[in-house]
Amino acid sequence: MHIDEVKSQFPIFSKKINGKQLVYLDSSNSAQKPTSVIKSLDNFYKNEFSNIGRSIHSLSVNATNKFEETRMSVKKFINASSKDEIIFTKNATEAINLVATTFGQKHIEKGDEILITELEHHSNYIPWHYLRKNKGAVIKFAPINDDGDILIDKFKELITSKTKIIALTHLSNVTGTIVPIKEIIEIAKKKNIPVLVDGCQSAPHLKIDVKDLDCDFYAISCHKIYGPTGVGVLYAKKEWLESLPPYIGGGGMISEVKKDKVTYAPLPEKYEAGTMPTAEVVAFNESIKFMQSIGIENIIKHENELTSYALEKMKKINSVNIVGNPKNKAGVISFTIKGIHPHDISTIVDEEGVAIRAGHHCCQILHERLNLPASARASIGIYNTKEDIDILCKAIENCRKVFDIK
Ligand SMILES: Cc1ncc(COP(=O)(O)O)c(C=O)c1O
Repeated sequence: MHIDEVKSQFPIFSKKINGKQLVYLDSSNSAQKPTSVIKSLDNFYKNEFSNIGRSIHSLSVNATNKFEETRMSVKKFINASSKDEIIFTKNATEAINLVATTFGQKHIEKGDEILITELEHHSNYIPWHYLRKNKGAVIKFAPINDDGDILIDKFKELITSKTKIIALTHLSNVTGTIVPIKEIIEIAKKKNIPVLVDGCQSAPHLKIDVKDLDCDFYAISCHKIYGPTGVGVLYAKKEWLESLPPYIGGGGMISEVKKDKVTYAPLPEKYEAGTMPTAEVVAFNESIKFMQSIGIENIIKHENELTSYALEKMKKINSVNIVGNPKNKAGVISFTIKGIHPHDISTIVDEEGVAIRAGHHCCQILHERLNLPASARASIGIYNTKEDIDILCKAIENCRKVFDIK
């Protein structure tokens, strides 16, 4: 695989930022889009646009077929058992809210426990917080160590007869921790507790096999997998989707509507109310094809090499502190520089064309646990090169010069 060839598929890299070549190290936030995805969006609106699943004219039938082709591709991409287990949402946040709301309605009572971890993104905490607030549920946070690894023994101790669901991330968007979710799911299965996995960061960087993991729910955001914004995926085992109530009500999710009675559509439409992001779902098929054209093994190899290279170089820079040191780490590198606020780091490196993120990255609990008000974060995508890391490190050195830090 030649990274130059991969990179050339992303038109944004021909643009200059502040007069400099763009070094994009913010893919954990959202990934850039290859030409095939952009062309698909353009083509759909120019030549194929129609709403789906409603009219029976040719345009609508074609659009519906293309929409369903993406569903089949997602099914294969994550190795689900059936296309009916793939629900399109707005993003991973909506996917998690869908589960928390519907599962909560049916299965959560006052005093029931929801087990999450200190690593979680707000999107995998706030939806459960609503159940705490509205139903009197209890949220327990499985602790991590200073390296950013979940303490499995402590995790096990937190499981009680009241634990109704476990929800945790597959890959931390701050420390880059690859969580041993298979091991955790095995622990949960022995106690018959369903598990939701937040796969936002893992789906673009790891091989996902929901059958092998045996998770109950898996949430994905397509914009992080080189796809369009406005589309997410909820994978859920069919038995859950059949037994849980619907989420949003409206057109498209019903079977029969009478003045005194409503019945719902079969899966997956039961959970897809209203007009869907049709063009975006169709274009997401191109993102999956893009990932497959490179091959997940090649993606993992390239990103691992780059992560090791970046960590080695960044650790050599005086006063740079890498956040966490997990046993298994992906290309998410959060860091601080003593004496410089992360927002200042981000602003100064931006002058060199380097895009990173600064703040709490929607993980205030984790930052508090690590005694940090905020951090800067460089996150790697398939298009990044060693040269990008060199430019980042030079820009970091420049921050130190600006702030006169030795
Ligand atoms: C681990 C994790 N979970 C959930 C989300 C939420 O994703 P979205 O905003 O696309 O719903 C993110 C986004 O950064 C994330 O990193």
